[in-house]
Amino acid sequence: MANVTFSSPRMARDITVYAVAGDRGTILAVAQQNKVPIPFDCQDGNCGSCVVEVTHLDAPTKYSKYGIALTEEEKETLKQLGKITKDEIYEAEVNDMPPRYRLACQCFVRNEDIMVTFEGDETLP
Ligand code: FES
Repeated sequence: MANVTFSSPRMARDITVYAVAGDRGTILAVAQQNKVPIPFDCQDGNCGSCVVEVTHLDAPTKYSKYGIALTEEEKETLKQLGKITKDEIYEAEVNDMPPRYRLACQCFVRNEDIMVTFEGDETLP
C-alpha cells in the first residue's frame, strides 16, 4: 500500500491519501494534488522550506524501510537546517536508509505507508 497521511498544526485534521502506483511522484507533488499546504519555494532541494518528518508506518525494523539514494543537495540542506545527524548521514550513505527528516520536494513516495508531519515554519528562507 502507499497511503500517505499528512499531519500538521496548519490543517484542521489529518488527511490520508492513497498514492496510486505509477502516479506517485514526490511527497510535495502528492501534497499539492490533495491541497495539503506543505510550504515550498525552490522545489530543487536547496531552500529547505519543504522540510517534513517522515514516519515509515509498516517498517517493523530500522532496515525494513525502502532504501533511498539521498542526493547531495538534500543532504547539505538538511545539514544546514540541523535536521540530520551524523549517524543518519552514515546510514543514508552506507545502508541507503532514509533519515527522519526529508525534503518533500526530493522525497519520492514508494510502495509503503508513511506519515508526513510538517510545521510549516514561516521563518525558513
Ligand atoms: Fe526548496 Fe524543497 S522547496 S528544498
